[in-house]
Amino acid sequence: MSDNDSNTDHPQAGCRRLILTPPVGWRGTDAPDTESEILRQLAPGTVLMMGDNPALPRMPARPRLLDFFKYRITDITFRHLLTSGKRALDAGEDDKVVLACLLHDIANGMLLRTDHGYWGAQMIAPYVDEEVAWAVENHQALRYYADESVGYKYPDSYVRFFGPDYSPPEYIRVAAEAARKHRWYMSSRLVTLYDIYFFEKSEPIELEIFTDIIGRHFREPKEGLGFDGSRVAHMWRTAIWPNNSL
Ligand SMILES: [Fe+2]
Ligand SMILES: [Fe+2]
Repeated sequence: MSDNDSNTDHPQAGCRRLILTPPVGWRGTDAPDTESEILRQLAPGTVLMMGDNPALPRMPARPRLLDFFKYRITDITFRHLLTSGKRALDAGEDDKVVLACLLHDIANGMLLRTDHGYWGAQMIAPYVDEEVAWAVENHQALRYYADESVGYKYPDSYVRFFGPDYSPPEYIRVAAEAARKHRWYMSSRLVTLYDIYFFEKSEPIELEIFTDIIGRHFREPKEGLGFDGSRVAHMWRTAIWPNNSL
């Protein structure tokens, strides 16, 4: 909820804007269901949030990939993606693997957590080589399964995150098994190898080190991400306007 009377260059200027939290953000949590309470507050001058939220940095009219990194991805995921991409870059991996590492958690960084590999792969699919989207999709399942041949073990962080006895659901097991037999297996496996969680602050990594790779391998739509009429444009728009009521 925000009072933004001074934001005259934003839509709904002068109004008190109310934000409805998406069901996936609160169902099953301790957070209360505020929908009826919010709707009760509607009155002349008090509206449901639509369009640019003055509490967020405004995106350019034709946003490019790195604008989402700069203005929308959460801090931890921002550092995590840059670190993964840089590790792959420093290891001399090919461009497609570096790009997949840089983008692998883009969905949980700015959209949704559940099934983040699938959401992320869909978001980027129109703009990258099929192999990159495939690697992003499948890293989600492959993360749960060791591959000693490349020194990849079940992550300690997953023991901490999910408990020592957690085992992934059947659809993940099936996906990982299929991925292992696929010709692009190693691309996705390398994403898991450079997919290391850390929560301490570290030396900042300049986004610009990825500019060339993005330029060569990410087809930025001229209308901007979210406005090119693609099948996934709505996902990018959702990241631009995460608080829209509808
Ligand atoms: Fe991930
Ligand atoms: Fe990750």
